[in-house]
Amino acid sequence: MEKMIIGILGAGTMGSGIVQVAAQNKHQVVLVDLNEHILMKSKAKLEKIMNRLVEKEKITSEEATAIQGRITYSQDIHDFKDCGLVVEAIIENLKIKQEVFGKLEQIVSRDCILASNTSSLSIASIAAAVEKSERMIGIHFFNPAPLMPLVEIIPAVQTSSGTVENTTTLIDSWNKVTVSCKDTPGFIVNRVARPFYGEALRIYEEGVADFATIDWAMTELGGFRMGPFTLMDYIGNDVNYVVTETVFAAFYYDPRYKPSFTQKRHSEAGYYGRKSGRGYFNYGEGVENPAPNEDRELGKVIFERILIMLINEAVDALFLNIASKEAIDLAMTKGVNYPKGLLTWADELGLDVVLEKLQEMYEEYGEDRYRPSPLLRRMVREGKTFF
Ligand SMILES: NC(=O)c1ccc[n+]([C@@H]2O[C@H](COP(=O)([O-])OP(=O)(O)OC[C@H]3O[C@@H](n4cnc5c(N)ncnc54)[C@H](O)[C@@H]3O)[C@@H](O)[C@H]2O)c1
Repeated sequence: MEKMIIGILGAGTMGSGIVQVAAQNKHQVVLVDLNEHILMKSKAKLEKIMNRLVEKEKITSEEATAIQGRITYSQDIHDFKDCGLVVEAIIENLKIKQEVFGKLEQIVSRDCILASNTSSLSIASIAAAVEKSERMIGIHFFNPAPLMPLVEIIPAVQTSSGTVENTTTLIDSWNKVTVSCKDTPGFIVNRVARPFYGEALRIYEEGVADFATIDWAMTELGGFRMGPFTLMDYIGNDVNYVVTETVFAAFYYDPRYKPSFTQKRHSEAGYYGRKSGRGYFNYGEGVENPAPNEDRELGKVIFERILIMLINEAVDALFLNIASKEAIDLAMTKGVNYPKGLLTWADELGLDVVLEKLQEMYEEYGEDRYRPSPLLRRMVREGKTFF
């Protein structure tokens, strides 16, 4: 069977990565961006990546040439007319996305699947701009798309089961790990990961430890690839702060997702992180950052507190049927490289231990932020485990 032509709208960070994935999977790809300079930058970046893969003998130079030859670069969305799927990865703005999909629908065939890679908007709200909205779906890749195996598949209330099946089959065939989740703020990963940043910031604000010590505890004792402050500096405090604020508002101001003044002030000061040369850490040449306090007792307190909050978030996502327990664990290991799935981790620690620690914090602080998920209570009462 002839492979369908894939359209990608937006040649930025995500669009460029998704184009590579589709072309490596032998699809003809059309990449459209309004900005010619960005299109050329995307093309040059792919060429560099291909050269590196050839050097490392991951692919042959013939394959590299073939991959690049499958991609058409264009500034005209009419070039999407023969596509079987179009994935949108443009600016995170509902009005602009709706306008674009309204136009796109007039160009593509009636059975072309329309997808958005949005991180924070509801798929239902984007689909509302499309007349045949049953063909609209969320396909959420992680950065960098060619390297991160996870893809969240998000049906909107309007999406047909056929669209979900065809999309999942296609993305699975690209050797990605797909997980299906409900159209709710942050989907799985960006919801469940909130405490990784939020609780770390809170621990700092309480004066328990400094940035370097918290990062040391999470990497050295927790086995995470990056500490929360290094990660926020990598993502950009401006970007990460806005996501936190958006998620907080989207959850009707549930105190669990409350943003932090520390991050707000860093963002206001222009301490964005790596890209601005300074964030929680200083990235200037020859600058030495403070060393962590490698007290293992203190480290254990920090790591356990953040882990327990992450587990509670994962359990609550399961409680509210955002995704299956398997999907929730896969999402965190394959989308953001957690050393273990959080529900598996909870089983290992003992659900009674997790509940007890949460209960202690809840009583100590008297804040709703620390309330244990009802599912956790129920499982402890019934003596059950997740797996
Ligand atoms: N960066 C991430 O880590 C990440 C991860 C997952 C999802 N996302 C989501 O992916 C989308 C894109 O994010 P990004 O980081 O790649 O952004 P980006 O700023 O790197 O790229 C966006 C591109 O869209 C182009 N564009 C804007 N409006 C356009 C239009 N009307 N028509 C055609 N092109 C247009 C811009 O020229 C730009 O090249 C967003 O919805 C974002 O929420 C981002």
